[in-house]
Amino acid sequence: MSETTPTSSQIPVIDVENLNFYYGPSQALYNLNLTFPRRKVTALIGPSGCGKSTFLRCLNRMNDLVDVARVEGEILLNGVDINSSAMDVIELRRRVGMVFQKSNPFPKSIYENVIYGLRIAGVNNKAVLDEAVEKSLKGAALWDEVKDRLNESALGMSGGQQQRLCIARAIAVNPEVILMDEPCSALDPKSTARVEELIGELRKDYTIIIVTHNMQQAARVSDYTAFLYEGILIEYGPTQEIFMKPKNKQTEDYITGRFG
Ligand SMILES: Nc1ncnc2c1ncn2[C@@H]1O[C@H](COP(=O)(O)OP(=O)(O)O)[C@@H](O)[C@H]1O
Ligand SMILES: [Mg+2]
Repeated sequence: MSETTPTSSQIPVIDVENLNFYYGPSQALYNLNLTFPRRKVTALIGPSGCGKSTFLRCLNRMNDLVDVARVEGEILLNGVDINSSAMDVIELRRRVGMVFQKSNPFPKSIYENVIYGLRIAGVNNKAVLDEAVEKSLKGAALWDEVKDRLNESALGMSGGQQQRLCIARAIAVNPEVILMDEPCSALDPKSTARVEELIGELRKDYTIIIVTHNMQQAARVSDYTAFLYEGILIEYGPTQEIFMKPKNKQTEDYITGRFG
């Protein structure tokens, strides 16, 4: 027995055990086992079609929306299986938020976009909402750019600003985990750099799991990296090790650009 009691920061926020995933008869994920450490950034890498988005969507049950989807195994969020009847899926998606490849602000004001989740949760107190808007926009490094036009449409913002707005919307409901599926793939290099910088800030408060096609980005922003190939977890470890001395030949070939 260990002498030290583990603090909550040492317990992984998400623990995936023997996860198999099927679209109808076709298996997309094979017996995945890994844990996501709290308040760290984990990058999911691998060639197109290897199951990165499918895996990400398992983590907040977005695949429930797919009729033919079937999950086996366990995904424990702070020790509770997210697929058990004890888990309320609305609450799960508040705790495990998501930012998509293409920013998807609603055709509403900047202000209403940020507090969308709070409105759904029935929060209507203006002082509470105002505070959430300021805090979330500051957290998404967007406040200074938009504080004088909170009531203007979000659709008038630049692409990079829209993506940071979606991050503000995700953090407004106070999640534990933020899933990001190629969040920079539609952004120019300058906006990408801003979002990467933001990820560096967000890791102080949140656990971030990011899918990226960009090896340099994975190396820059993540603490841990998982390499998936054809639905199999080939290698997982500290990002430095995966990039500097991968144990597996397939990992090495992928990160050095030999395929994918
Ligand atoms: N809704 C779906 N229905 C059936 N098959 C799907 C669906 N979404 C993805 N797939 C298949 O699952 C596999 C993994 O896809 P995906 O998770 O999107 O990979 P990645 O994000 O790594 O590119 C692919 O073979 C893809 O064709
Ligand atoms: Mg994908």
